[in-house]
Amino acid sequence: MRQIRIVAAMLMCIAVFDILPARAQKFESLAQTPPMGWNSWNKFACDGINEKVIREVADAMVASGMQQAGYRYIVIDDCWQVGRDSAGNIIADSVKFPGGIKALADYIHSKGLKFGIYTCAGTKTCAGRPASLGYEYQDARQYAAWGVDYLKEDWCNTLKDQNALASYTLMRDALYKAGRPIVFSLCEWGSNKPWLWAEDVGHLWRSTGDISAIWSTPANPDGSPRSGSVLGNMDLENGLEKYAGPGHWNDPDMLEVGNEGLTVDESRAHFSLWCMLAAPLISGNDLRNMSDDTRAILTNKNLIAIDQDPMGRQGYRVSMKEGLEVFVKPLQGGDTAVCLLNRGDQEKQLDLAWKEYGIGGGHPIKDLWKDRQTGTTDTHFRGTIGRHQVIVLRLSR
Ligand code: GLA
Repeated sequence: MRQIRIVAAMLMCIAVFDILPARAQKFESLAQTPPMGWNSWNKFACDGINEKVIREVADAMVASGMQQAGYRYIVIDDCWQVGRDSAGNIIADSVKFPGGIKALADYIHSKGLKFGIYTCAGTKTCAGRPASLGYEYQDARQYAAWGVDYLKEDWCNTLKDQNALASYTLMRDALYKAGRPIVFSLCEWGSNKPWLWAEDVGHLWRSTGDISAIWSTPANPDGSPRSGSVLGNMDLENGLEKYAGPGHWNDPDMLEVGNEGLTVDESRAHFSLWCMLAAPLISGNDLRNMSDDTRAILTNKNLIAIDQDPMGRQGYRVSMKEGLEVFVKPLQGGDTAVCLLNRGDQEKQLDLAWKEYGIGGGHPIKDLWKDRQTGTTDTHFRGTIGRHQVIVLRLSR
């Protein structure tokens, strides 16, 4: 009788531990600063990816100095998957990935890089490939077995009334149960305001629709910003700064730096704004064929230090006047990053009184793109700023 009671008590313990929310959490400490890496979508989309391209991009990540600058994750986006076997296991495209996903992950790991993959919370991915709805635990186990370090989960082809919080929480729990620390990137485009609920679910969440290599998109009829461009996606971040911090980031989408459609000035502005916003820096160009300008932008250590500042504050706009905008990002130790943006088409003369932005005198100023000191905040900041250009300054405490 006593033995039966002990066994019954043990079973109850197991049952209780199995349903305890202790298991239900995201992996902590995986993205204390915004994740940095590369993703295949912006340049290679669906048809352009294969094992050779991904390996070569990993090689180029190392050879180009991107790895040294802090980029870590190589993420394969949509279209690597073609079906499921009779046991429901996801099957990778064996024509495009003849060596299989595990071998590719091993190769990426052998370079000291990390490996990411893509799925979708609906019945099919955005490109119509098999997705994870109903297969969350099985897929999570497979990702862990392959050595995945980063998962992007999209939101296409979801069921009518499918609940985003519940769906992404399910995948979070599945990843946790699978036991391999995986950065979890939510991609529901801001449709369900993930900044209000995703802090405990994932490490980053898209806050906008897809970006393109376009400078600006016309506003919606009600005047609200429209995604689809550098300025459109950037404008949609306005007001979200209070939701970002170490381990949980707003994501205005991947970088278009180096892709056809943006000028060098626009690419520099795009990169600077993403750094000011503490945005994930996920490059989206062909790393194997970068111009010197593109490489210099993506690997600029002064700007990356703003993005990766350990305090993790998202910068915000403090003024907009006739197309000239000023952004501020408080940094650890009391420094401040300031970005001046000329979003208009005419060159502008600058005559900035620091006290208008609540900044007192005595702070030495460094121009981060010119990489040199340039006076102090005791005097007005004067100069010219061309169309679609930025000036980024770091004010010392
Ligand atoms: C959606 C996402 C993109 C990309 C594509 C892939 O549009 O927002 O970032 O992943 O799907 O099909």
